[in-house]
Order: sequence, then structure tokens, then C-alpha cells
Amino acid sequence: MRDSIGAALRHDSALRHATGRARFLDDMAEPAGMLHAALASAAPAHGRVLALHLDAARAMPGVIRVIGPADIPGENDIAPIGSGEPMLADPLVEHAGQSLAIVVARTRDQALAAAAAITAEIEELPPVLDIATAWERHSWLVGPFTMAQGDAVAALEASPMTARGEMHLGGQEHFYLEGQIALAIPGEDGDMLIHSSTQHPTEGQHVVARVLGEPYHRVQVQCRRMGGAFGGKESNASWVAAAAAIAARLTGKPVKLRLPRKLDMAATGKRHPFLYRWQVGFDASGRVLALDAALIADGGHSLDMSAGVIMRATTHSLNAYSVPALRVLCGAVKTNHVSNTAFRGFGGPQGAMLMDDVLGHVAAAAGLDVETVRARNFAGGENPAQTPYGQALEGDLIRRVYAEARADAGWAERMASIETFNATHPTLRRGLGCFVSAFGVSFGIPHLNQAGALVHVYTDGSIRLNHGGTEMGQGLFIKVAQVVAQVFSVPIESIGITATSTEQVPNTSATAASTGSDLNGWAAYHAAETIRGRMAEVAGLHFGCAAGDVRFEDGEVLGASGNQRLVFSELAKLCWKSRVSLSATGFYATPDLEWDMQEVRGKPFFYFSYGAAVAEVVIDTLTGEHRVLRAHLVQDCGQSLNPAIDRGQIEGAFIQGMGWLTSEELWWDRAGRLRTLGPSTYKIPGSRDVPPVFTTRLLEAAPNPARTIFRSKAVGEPPLLLAAAVWNALKHAAGTPHLDCPVSPERLLAARG
Ligand code: MTE
Ligand code: HPA
Ligand code: MOS
Repeated sequence: MRDSIGAALRHDSALRHATGRARFLDDMAEPAGMLHAALASAAPAHGRVLALHLDAARAMPGVIRVIGPADIPGENDIAPIGSGEPMLADPLVEHAGQSLAIVVARTRDQALAAAAAITAEIEELPPVLDIATAWERHSWLVGPFTMAQGDAVAALEASPMTARGEMHLGGQEHFYLEGQIALAIPGEDGDMLIHSSTQHPTEGQHVVARVLGEPYHRVQVQCRRMGGAFGGKESNASWVAAAAAIAARLTGKPVKLRLPRKLDMAATGKRHPFLYRWQVGFDASGRVLALDAALIADGGHSLDMSAGVIMRATTHSLNAYSVPALRVLCGAVKTNHVSNTAFRGFGGPQGAMLMDDVLGHVAAAAGLDVETVRARNFAGGENPAQTPYGQALEGDLIRRVYAEARADAGWAERMASIETFNATHPTLRRGLGCFVSAFGVSFGIPHLNQAGALVHVYTDGSIRLNHGGTEMGQGLFIKVAQVVAQVFSVPIESIGITATSTEQVPNTSATAASTGSDLNGWAAYHAAETIRGRMAEVAGLHFGCAAGDVRFEDGEVLGASGNQRLVFSELAKLCWKSRVSLSATGFYATPDLEWDMQEVRGKPFFYFSYGAAVAEVVIDTLTGEHRVLRAHLVQDCGQSLNPAIDRGQIEGAFIQGMGWLTSEELWWDRAGRLRTLGPSTYKIPGSRDVPPVFTTRLLEAAPNPARTIFRSKAVGEPPLLLAAAVWNALKHAAGTPHLDCPVSPERLLAARG
């Protein structure tokens, strides 16, 4: 039998996904008497509710109950961290689309109609809708924090050349295919079972318990799979579950809440938009000597997870580069936008693009090629391989991924061909760009880096696997199953994959920060190892050899002499007869992490994941439109647990990042209402936007020096950063170092002047 680890196995649900047989929450059999909830939401972005008129909705057909803030049984607070984020506005409205009331009716259409009939008298207040204004007013949600090294001010003054810049980076809608949804089923004595499309069942449990005023043990949250999440179901899923739970508690019936797409887009958080302002000092060789930068995020109206996003933006602001003297100020300001949240990369991409903005301007000012400037400033080599917060950039892979991506692209040849094309074509211009990334893996808050698992071996030799991670399409379940199959040396088909539940593994972290397989892989390994150790003892007694000499191989268990053997299932049965437990929990906590957010110092990441990309674009100088013609990606996955899954993650992340930086534009009107509420106005990439020449390579022979599960590396978020190669290629084609994102046709035309 081949090793399970490293095998390019397909996603355990691939066939079910493709044939429509994968069951998502809305496909589940509905319990008898189930009702539907809908949310009434506020139109203005900022105001004070003077009166909420619920009677018209109460009189509508099919309506069972209309719930205002005063009816919430526990606290009116859905904050994922700390407190102070209301489920239902009371009395302040702080963003357009904020929930005012919950309607429960017999059918979903009846609930939606009644929710639309709810009116509110709202005294409108002036909204703050842009980062610069909120920054001027020092309206901080979190921070500002300063990461410093050396004396940036003195070094700037001493620099032979300086430049300054300002850049705007837009937000991003998650556009998961399955929208936010929860089904709450009340049980005996205040028990509440919630089926939730969530990355974070434990947080759902906590938030539901808080709004119901119940202890955690009364609430169980379960999730078999999500139809995509991308960070959008890390905290936002919890309040959707809370609304369903409140409705279920107050009606005594099961209640399902599925947000309509438009409301989902208006009422759930997005990627944080950022504003950069910076000053750089450098020399004639393009070496950056000093950097003084501010990275300010639009946190929206409430904290949510903005502190973590800021931490990641700060720690990624030098990305793969080294700068001797710097001061980077980073914070999130409060605006009257929806509360911005986790989105694949979690502030990392927003932070990591700073240096490419800076290096482009340095190259232009010094009259150098941008790739020369890039190479001059890489961390490692003649420059220190050390982050300003004190962690080493281990492995010396930055130049290697860069060289490999450029080799895959045939950089020099492409550049020559592009120059010829540009010299001869009347209106089209081609461009070539590169991006290199170093993404830190671990939750930025050290204590979140823990996971648990629960493994049962049954007497027929089949194995049931449960862990705290959730499946959102990223292939976590198959990867963790591969780990368990490897420990027992049984075929992957022996492993039964189960839904995530707060009842099976308690007190879990979100499946986020790309740590799903790092954390749950080890936890499941430890559970499986415990059982394997007990099974080896029984086998040793049976064979008359030491337990340490028992080997598990190809579905069999062998004694010391080699000609004594039991099939795995025979040994499982023998253990049962010997009254030895075949069930175990496993736990894992990432070692050696420390972080001081105030000082911005420590070792917050277990390791870095490196990647590089080259992209080639063509722009139309008359319309500002563009196409991506080629992309070549190299991503460090350590010793990949599953190259097929990893490749899918790399491709998907790149395309998703490309959408963020090019076609996906969130457009708010002057009153602060989001007007891009569906795919007709919000353009996510389609299959035809995939570059016709597109190669993806996993860096070879690069086992993780950190002791991760089978020396693998996380892959979920890091390759999203590679999409910035497209932004760099667009700058090259447009002949400008400055390009705000998303690079809409309008922005591209304006940038060309
Ligand atoms: N891939 C798919 N198909 N769907 C998703 O929702 N989420 C991404 C990434 N890849 C996502 C995905 C995000 S934001 C994270 S943090 C990781 O998956 C989480 O899973 P992991 O830790 O198991 O990689
Ligand atoms: N990523 C995602 N979620 C998080 C993180 C992170 O780094 N830190 C805290 N929550
Ligand atoms: Mo991913 S943004 O950490 O859910």
C-alpha cells in the first residue's frame, strides 16, 4: 500500500460536490413544524432608532412572532471578542443593513415579506464613510500600534534620495456560494442544537449561549461542510446562528434562517480596505535605507476581529524584504460601514503589498528596473533574514521561489517579446510583474493555536475520525484522514469522516489562519497514536513479542519475527475482547509562540510559507480594460500532505486574489449604502478570467524545518498574495509605479494620465 501522506487523493466530497449529492445545510431534511426567520434591517448608515413599528408585520399572513431588541432572552450582544456589538440595533444604527428585528413565519417568503413591512423612525446622524476622515478624527477601533527598528526619522534625513506615496486598497466580498445559514432546533430544558454553516462552531456556541442566557453546555453547534467561507463565516456565522436560536427559543419550534444574497452582502463584514501613506529613503543602488509608513484599515462600525487583522498587516508590512530603519504605524479606524472581518489572508495581503508599492516608486525615482530593486532589498543574502519584530525568516527560500517562478515564466524571453509587442501595437500594451511573499503561519493570538481530536476504532477495523476543524471546501477533512490512515497504515477508505460538533471536541479555535491541518492534523495524530500504542500492547501479548517490535503495515499488524500477522480488524476485535479501549482524544498546542502586541515583538508564527509568482497582462489603452495572459506560481507547501488539494488551493487563492485586486469593487453611495449587492454589479472572476497559460508548482524538496505534521506547510491563504503579481504587471503595462486597487478600467485610464 502506498503512503497516505503525500498522496494526491481527491477531496473526500469531490464526487458529491460534482454530482450535487453533497448535503449542505439547506438540503437537510427539515424537522416537523419548522419555521423560517427573516431580518428587518436599517436603511441609514448612522442614526438613532426613535420607534420601531412591528405591528404591521405581526398582522401579515403566516407570521408567528416578531422579535425586537427588548425580546432577546439573554444579552443583545454578538461580539466575537469582548462585548458591545448588538444583535439588534438599540438604539444606535451604525451601518446600513444592520438588523432591527427578527420575523418568524411559516414560510420563508412570508417571513421576508413581513420583515420588509417593518418600519422604523430613525433620527439620522452624519455617517463617516472613509478612512482618511476617521483617521483625522483619531477614531480608532484598535491601535494604532507602531513597529519600529532603528531611528527611521534620522535615517530618512540621512538618505541620499527620498520618495513618498499614498495608496488605496479596496475591500472584498467573500461571495461564498452557500450564503449564511443556520437551523436552530430547541430541545428539552433549554437545550439548543444549531446546524450552522460556520468556520467556528465554538464561537457560535458562545454567542448563542449569550443571547439565550444559557450556559455553554446547553448549546451544541454542528457543521458537516460549508459551501465556501473564506473567513466570512469565522465571526459572521455566529450572529446568524444567534438570530435563529432566539427565534427558536421564543417560538419553541425549529427555525431556519437563510439570508437572501442581497442582505448577506449588505449585512456581513468584508475584507478590510486599507489606506497607506509612506515616506522612503534609499540610495542610488535602490537599497531602501529608511521607511516611515502608516497602514490604516477601515474596521467598519465595530471591532469584530480587526485587532488580529491589524496585527497581521503590521507583521507582514515588510513581507519578504529587509529595511534597516523603519517605523510602521498600523491601526483600524471606525466608520459607518459594515464591520469588516476575516478574509483569506487576514490583513496579510494588505500589509504585504506596501513594499511593492514602495519598491515601484524607488525604482522609478532611481531610474532602475523594479526587479533590480526587488532583489537588492530581499531579506537574507547580504541583508538580514530577520523581521523587525524579532522573528527569523527561516529556510532561506525567498530567492529560491523568486528564481523558480521567473524560470518557469521564461522571464527574459517574455520581457523581450513584450517590448517588441509594445513598440509595434497602436493601442494595446503588455506588462510583466512579479510578487514574492513570506506569510507567517499561526493565529496571531498565541493561545488560539490549539486543537483537539476524537478517534474511535470499531471492531470491524473501521475508524471514525472527528476533530475541531471545519470543512469549507479546502480539503481539511481528507488531509486529516490521511494522517490517521498513515498512523494505522490502513487504506483511506477505512476512515469515516464526520461533522464538526462542539459535543465531540470542545473549546476549539476557528478553522482559520490556514492552520486547520497543522493543528488538527497533529491532534488527530496524537489520538490515533494513543490507540495504536494500546493495540500494539495487545498484539505484543498475542505474538509474544515486545509492543515496540509490533509493526502496522498495509492493513496488517506484524510481530517481531515477521511471519506472525493479524489483519487490522482482527486486532481491533482482539483489543475489544481484551477489554482495551479503542477510543481516544488527542490534543495539540503549537510550541514556542510568544507575542507582545503593544511592543510589536516576539515570535508570533511557527514558520513562514514562501511563494512567488510572475504574471503577464495586456491592457487596452483606449478602454482601460485588461486581461491576464499568463501566470506562473511557485508555492512552498513544505512536504505536502496532499499535492492535489494544495494545487487546488494555490490556483483558487490566486484567482480569488486577482478578483480582489482587479474586478471586484465594493461601491457605496454617499449615504453609505452598498450598491453592489449581487453578481451583476460585483464582478468576481469567472472561468474565462483564468489566465490561458497558468502553471502552478509546489516547491520541491523543501520539508518544513518547523516540526509540523509530516513537515507539511499551510496552504489555504498564502497563495492569495501571489495575485499581487497581476497588480505589478498592470503597473508595468501602464507605465506607472502608482495604481490603486481594485484596478478598474477607470483607475487604469486615470493612472496613464
Ligand atoms: N478553500 C475553499 N475551497 N473554501 C474556503 O472557504 N477558505 C480559506 C482557505 N481555503 C477557503 C479555502 C481560508 S480564509 C482559510 S483560513 C483556510 O482555507 C482555512 O482552512 P485550512 O486552515 O484548513 O487551510
Ligand atoms: N487569522 C484568522 N483568524 C484569526 C487570526 C488569524 O491570524 N488571529 C485571530 N483570529
Ligand atoms: Mo481565513 S481569513 O483565516 O478564515
